[in-house]
This record gives sequence, structure tokens and C-alpha cells, in this order.
Amino acid sequence: MTQAKDTLAQQNHIATLLTLQEIAQNLAAELNLETLLERVVEAAVKVVQASAGSLLVWDPWNNDLVFAVAKGGGGDALIGHRMPAYKGIAGWALTNQQPAIVTKVRQDPRFFGAIDESLGYHTSSLLAVPLLVKGEGIGVLEVLNKASEEPFDQEDTDLLMALAGQAAVAIKNARLYRQVREERDRIVDLEEQVRKDLAREIHDGPAQMLSAIIMHLSFIEELLVRDPEQAGKEIVLLRGTASAALQEIRSMIFELRPVVLQTRGLTAALRSFVNRLREVDDMTIHAELEEWTSRLPTKIEDICFAIIQEALTNVKKHAEARNVWLQVTRQNDLLTVNIRDDGRGFEISRLEVLEAQEGHLGLLNMRERAEMVDGELVIRAQPGWGTRVVLTIPLSDNQTVGRSRVTDYLGLPQNNSRPPKQKQAKFYQRS
Ligand SMILES: Nc1ncnc2c1ncn2[C@@H]1O[C@H](COP(=O)(O)OP(=O)(O)OP(=O)(O)O)[C@@H](O)[C@H]1O
Ligand SMILES: [Mg+2]
Repeated sequence: MTQAKDTLAQQNHIATLLTLQEIAQNLAAELNLETLLERVVEAAVKVVQASAGSLLVWDPWNNDLVFAVAKGGGGDALIGHRMPAYKGIAGWALTNQQPAIVTKVRQDPRFFGAIDESLGYHTSSLLAVPLLVKGEGIGVLEVLNKASEEPFDQEDTDLLMALAGQAAVAIKNARLYRQVREERDRIVDLEEQVRKDLAREIHDGPAQMLSAIIMHLSFIEELLVRDPEQAGKEIVLLRGTASAALQEIRSMIFELRPVVLQTRGLTAALRSFVNRLREVDDMTIHAELEEWTSRLPTKIEDICFAIIQEALTNVKKHAEARNVWLQVTRQNDLLTVNIRDDGRGFEISRLEVLEAQEGHLGLLNMRERAEMVDGELVIRAQPGWGTRVVLTIPLSDNQTVGRSRVTDYLGLPQNNSRPPKQKQAKFYQRS
């Protein structure tokens, strides 16, 4: 009789493990975060034969645990409900990174009875396990009241811990997948917006000016026969309009920042610019670009990028260089950009003439932009000896900004305008 009982118990155990394995495989394949969270709770309820279950996600920005899924026991009303991450049995499991079995819930000082009261549900026994990814708590999985009305035991804990381990990894993956998708959508939207703005600006600005120029040209054509002297005067006027159009197009090019600069910052944008140049130009570009963990202020990134872009374009256009060296470093609150080429150089003293009379405004623009961020631009050149452009911009501590924050608990009601409060729970102190 006992032997038959043991065999039955073993068979049940194997069946449970198989169910667990199947569930784990299904979870790993699910990339939709909401569906995945639902499935995790359904699986949890099933493996330990509980009558209700819920999944709480840790919101690091408010240090709350938020109910993402609640099944059974009228739990739908709980979705989105928040409680401090260091409170309750769930909070204990997360903070201590250990499972919590509670057989007499009401006698446990950690029990957060407010929820039972609000739902009119009677929790008698409870099992809560932390969702951990590489030692970091991301939430808590809870099951309530076994269907058999027996208390949860060690085997239930082991099963739920095994499930939680698989679930946590699947949740992390689904979040990463969502982040990548959202980032892609954001970039697509941004590109679309930039394209629309540009089309409008071209339409309202240079396109209008060009049609005015064409009309003016027809007028001048007629005048050439009737009144050549007046035609000469009109040509002078026309040149003014053409110069203004050119100026407008140039400033548009300056404003047109690559999307990668907006989304991933200066170093990434420079890398992609340099790679593009390498594809179309024979000169060797030696780029030494420091990697930083924090972003520079947008204005500095924009100006820096534009100056480097213009300097490299100049090398490509005028220098006939074999090599160009680009170095961007950030030391002791100073951003330094060095661009040097081994090309033909030029006569610096001719610059003013070039700027004033021939409308070459690239270098002038570079200097003006540098001044806008209290920077300094030094240009050294000599015919036959190459050209060097050095840009320095002072950075104070408050000028750098953190990486853009990622709301990686996703899919939940958010209230995340504040940074994490570092000391409220033990798990904050882990790196
Ligand atoms: N790296 C360089 N090597 C050789 N000559 C250069 C270099 N950079 C600039 N120059 C010279 O300085 C002049 C002024 O450069 P600047 O960038 O102001 O005007 P541009 O490139 O001619 O026109 P744009 O206004 O389109 O920039 C150039 O016309 C060129 O003669
Ligand atoms: Mg130029």
C-alpha cells in the first residue's frame, strides 16, 4: 500500500516537473510582455495548485511593488495597485531575495492586510518568491491558498522558485525586446519628423526664392533687349537673392543633425560620419574617439559635431590630404577636439578675403558656433604644411547629463519623474 502511494507520489512529481519544463519553454518563446506576465501567473497557480496568484513588478523609480497581474480572488481590481517595495510579505521576499512561506498569514507581522480587506478576500496561506535576474530583484511572484487547503510546503517553494527563475529571465528578455522596438519606433518617428520639417522649410525658403529668381531671370531676359543698363542693375539685385538662398540652404544643412546624434550621442554620430567618409574618400582617417558613460549637453554635442563635420569636409574638399587625424578627448572639464591633415594647407591671411568676398563661410561659422558654448577655435595652416583645427570647450560638472533613463519595468502605470531613492531598500545598494 505504502509502495503504491510512493509510486503515485513519484509519478505526480515527474508530471509536475514535465509541466514545469513545458511552461519554461513556452515562457522563453513569449516576447509580448503583458502576455508573458499573465502566463507566468497562470503557470504558478497551476504548478502549486493554488487558488489565486499575482505578479508584482518592482518600479525602481518610486521603489514600489506594482501589481502587474492578479488571477483569482477578485484580483483584477488589484492591477496597477502599488505598495512600498519594503512592505508586506512580497516586499520582504524581494528585499531578502528569499522565498517567504506563510501559513498563518494574519499572524505574520509582515502581512499587508489592506489588500485583503479591500477585496473581501481571505488569504490563509501564502507563498511569495522573488524574481531574480543575475542577483537583481525585478519583482515578486505570489500564490495564495492551496486548493487542497493545506499549507504550502517545501516542494511548492522549490517548484515556484524554479518557475520564477525561468520567468525572470523571460521577463528580462521581453523587456529588452520591447525597449529595442520602442527605440526603433522612436527613431523612425524622429526621422519622419525631421523629413517633414525639412520639406516644409525648403518649400517656404529656398524653393520660393528659386522661383522668384527664375521669374526675375525672365524679366531680365526681356530687359536685355529693351534696357540693357537696367538689366545690369537687376542682375545685381538677383545676385543678392541668390546669395540669400544659398545662405539659407547652408544654415539648413547646419541645423540638419543626424538622428544618431540625437539618439545616441556625439561619439556614435562621429563614428558613423567617419565611416561614411571612409566609404567615399581615399584619404586615411585616423579617429581616436573617447567613449563616455554620460552624454554631453545637446547644444555642445550639436556644435561639436557640426564643427568636426565642417573641418573634415574642408579636408576632403580642399586639402588633397593622404591622412587626417581626428581626436576627441575629455579631460579635467575640458572637451578637446583636434583635427589635423597632411594636405596642401593654405594661407591663413587670405581667409578674411575669402570670407568677405567669396562667401566661404565654413570656418567663420565654426568659430561663431564655438563661441556660443564659450569654446575656442584655433586654426593653424601654412601652404604645403597641412592644416590643424583645435577646438576646446569648457565643461562644468552640471553640464553633463546622465544616460537617457530606460523605463525597463514597462507595461505598467508609471509615475517615474523622480530618480531612485537609493537607501530605501537593501537591494538598491547592489551595483
Ligand atoms: N583642411 C584644409 N586644407 C586646405 N585648405 C583649406 C582647408 N580648410 C579650409 N581651407 C581653405 O580655406 C577656405 C575657407 O574654408 P571655408 O570652410 O570657410 O569655406 P569653403 O569650404 O570654401 O566653403 P563653405 O562655406 O562651403 O565651407 C577654403 O576655401 C580653402 O581654401
Ligand atoms: Mg568649408
